[in-house]
Amino acid sequence: MMLTRVDWSNDLKVGVPLLDAEHLGLVELFNDFIASALSDTDGLHLGTHFKDVVSAVRDHFASEENMLDRHNYPRFAAHKAHHHRLLAQAETLQADWQSAAPTMGGRDSLLARTIDYFTDRLLHHIREADRPYRPFLMRLA
Ligand SMILES: [Fe+2]
Ligand SMILES: [Fe+2]
Repeated sequence: MMLTRVDWSNDLKVGVPLLDAEHLGLVELFNDFIASALSDTDGLHLGTHFKDVVSAVRDHFASEENMLDRHNYPRFAAHKAHHHRLLAQAETLQADWQSAAPTMGGRDSLLARTIDYFTDRLLHHIREADRPYRPFLMRLA
């Protein structure tokens, strides 16, 4: 049984209100996308919808990088490089959603890959790479 929604949980909290709000926004946007992909929404609309998800991911990375850079976060370069890889993976998925594949019976496997991306890569990044900057930013507060 495929996962059909992602739940926000406290282990995703980084303790910086702006960044927590952005992370929560990504989870909500992603859940909206899963819901429309599971309904009979046409492929063209899903391509546009996923593009909005990728734009939100891109905006969030820029916002977070801005904050980390401004505070001279010591692991900034590695963090930014990880964002870059995550964004490239999201853009690959976006190209797949915008191609004809979803309307040709490939939608279920593409949705499964998209959900894996969100849970195994993006949420994993929040837990394993974003949360560690918490004590650093808290010290400055
Ligand atoms: Fe983040
Ligand atoms: Fe990050």
